[in-house]
Amino acid sequence: KLPQKVKIVEMGPRDGLQNEKIIVESENKVKFINLLSQCGFQAIETTSFVSKKWVPQMGDASEVYQKIDKVPNVSYPVLVPNVTGLDQALKVDVKEIAVFGAASEAFSQKNINCSISDSLKRFNEVVIKAQQNGIKIRGYVSCVMGCPYEGDINPLKVAEVTQKLFEMGCYEVSLGDTIGVGTPEKTKDLMQALSQFDFQKLAVHFHDTYDRAIPNILVALEHGIQVVDSSVSGLGGCPYAGKPSGNVATETVVNTLNYLGIETGIDKEKLKEASDFICGLLNRQNISINF
Ligand code: HMG
Ligand code: MG
Repeated sequence: KLPQKVKIVEMGPRDGLQNEKIIVESENKVKFINLLSQCGFQAIETTSFVSKKWVPQMGDASEVYQKIDKVPNVSYPVLVPNVTGLDQALKVDVKEIAVFGAASEAFSQKNINCSISDSLKRFNEVVIKAQQNGIKIRGYVSCVMGCPYEGDINPLKVAEVTQKLFEMGCYEVSLGDTIGVGTPEKTKDLMQALSQFDFQKLAVHFHDTYDRAIPNILVALEHGIQVVDSSVSGLGGCPYAGKPSGNVATETVVNTLNYLGIETGIDKEKLKEASDFICGLLNRQNISINF
């Protein structure tokens, strides 16, 4: 049974841009986010408070966050890997953060330079301080259906990290198929391994490297998940994920859900405007062209 409504969390400004070689000027990031704010999203992941040396494109996090128009009832979460990042986010009055862990030891090392258990200790410090400041915390688990370095991942490992993130105080955990190797069968196995959790508190974050994100999302929705991360025009990919692999395109998700009679609240015309703008800057083919 499919849900009646799905919340889409737009990833374009963060996951969409973090791996782009062309550095987008801060002012244009602000325009892009302001255009997205008109589309009807309830949440737009805005930027990352990570090391500039590791992810140069996100080096202007404070400036971008400060300059965007914050539309009431839209949240603007940002990625935060440690207390250093949180302190910078606090200075610009961020209201929601996301900590990002992994179900793969090798990916954790490459992505955030520490083991899974060390990352959980760091996140715990972040969460405590964030909660003291009244900030909402989302959690990510990467490599839920496979890792670029380790290959197959045991879904029970995903369940273990998910459990830790909930125990810490994350209000939602987003399941990242970081490199898009998931299949409908693997998605089903993953959902079964997570059956102890409240599916209203889980989200899916699927990259579309092999064009399987949509069938995989549908399996997740059939299991009761109602939150989907996607990126306008399918921009994006993690710099530590090897082969370039964008997020599933927001346009494709909206079209598919509309076709199935599932409400998203997204204005397609406005979405096309945001997509045209960013694709123009990045010299990319705009997938909303036939949208
Ligand atoms: P590190 O080098 O191990 O950290 O990096 P450190 O604590 O040893 O510090 C080294 C230097 O970085 C110091 O500066 C720190 O001050 C600075 P120096 O003394 O050399 O001048 N530093 C920072 N600067 C700014 N912001 C910070 C920060 N922390 C330390 N927060 C660290 C560890 C986590 C910082 C680093 O590995 C990093 O920034 N990694 C970036 C990871 C990243 O952004 N990955 C992409 C996002 S995750 C993703 O895309 C997956 C997802 O989409 C889900 C999915 O698809 O699966 C979420
Ligand atoms: Mg991602």
